[in-house]
Amino acid sequence: MKKFSIAIDGPAGAGKSTIAKIIAQRLKIEYIDTGAMYRAITLKIIRNGTDINNIDEIIELLEKTDINFINGRVYLDGEDVSEEIRLPEIGKLVSQVAAIKEVREKLVAIQRDIAKNKSVIMDGRDIGTNVLKDAEIKIFLVASVEERAKRRYKELLEKGIEVSYDDIVKEIEKRDYIDSTREVNPLRKADDAIVVNNTNKTLEEVVEEILNIVCKKVEV
Ligand code: CDP
Ligand code: CDP
Repeated sequence: MKKFSIAIDGPAGAGKSTIAKIIAQRLKIEYIDTGAMYRAITLKIIRNGTDINNIDEIIELLEKTDINFINGRVYLDGEDVSEEIRLPEIGKLVSQVAAIKEVREKLVAIQRDIAKNKSVIMDGRDIGTNVLKDAEIKIFLVASVEERAKRRYKELLEKGIEVSYDDIVKEIEKRDYIDSTREVNPLRKADDAIVVNNTNKTLEEVVEEILNIVCKKVEV
């Protein structure tokens, strides 16, 4: 099997990570959750008490930061932070952290390095437009704000995290706004990406739709 890359971009809660994980298992390739990396840096900034406007301190912090994926878990400086990075307080700040040029430079370099020698499926906001510009398959996954908020609400409730539905809608809208209007590599559909709509569809339907696209482009 020849090496290939799949890029999945789209707004918050569109289903990127859930779908990318399933596809990675089916195709036996590696899944890289770039959002988790931005969340991990955000966690470090919060723990350290760093002001997100203090770029010098952030640069210093970045130099001492190590982010790793092992068996689908996210490690920040050797500590498994997979659960903690999903907390709402991280979600509230992450888009502001992800708009910092130096943060993006560091994480994009790590992402490209992981994808260098193996087939991957990588999800985020700027994968098809920037990180893996030459990806063989580019998907832009969308879903209505209401559907995304409903799914996120259910997911948090199942984890025992109480939040109001209205707050989730507000957070998603705010994050989408910051992500698509920032100067450095904003959320945008790559010209050669295929739009897949994940509103009113089951996960299995969308997985099949994407696998069909993949099979037409590469030999799996
Ligand atoms: O909550 P959700 O799973 O939608 O978001 P995420 O994929 O965990 O990403 C969290 C945040 O990281 C996004 O809202 C973006 O601000 C940022 N991000 C980014 O800027 N570029 C990426 N390639 C991935 C995430
Ligand atoms: O990664 P992204 O922020 O795009 O979304 P996610 O973290 O995968 O969250 C999507 C949520 O919606 C998950 O709880 C999925 O199980 C659920 N879901 C979906 O993604 N697609 C459907 N067709 C149905 C449910």
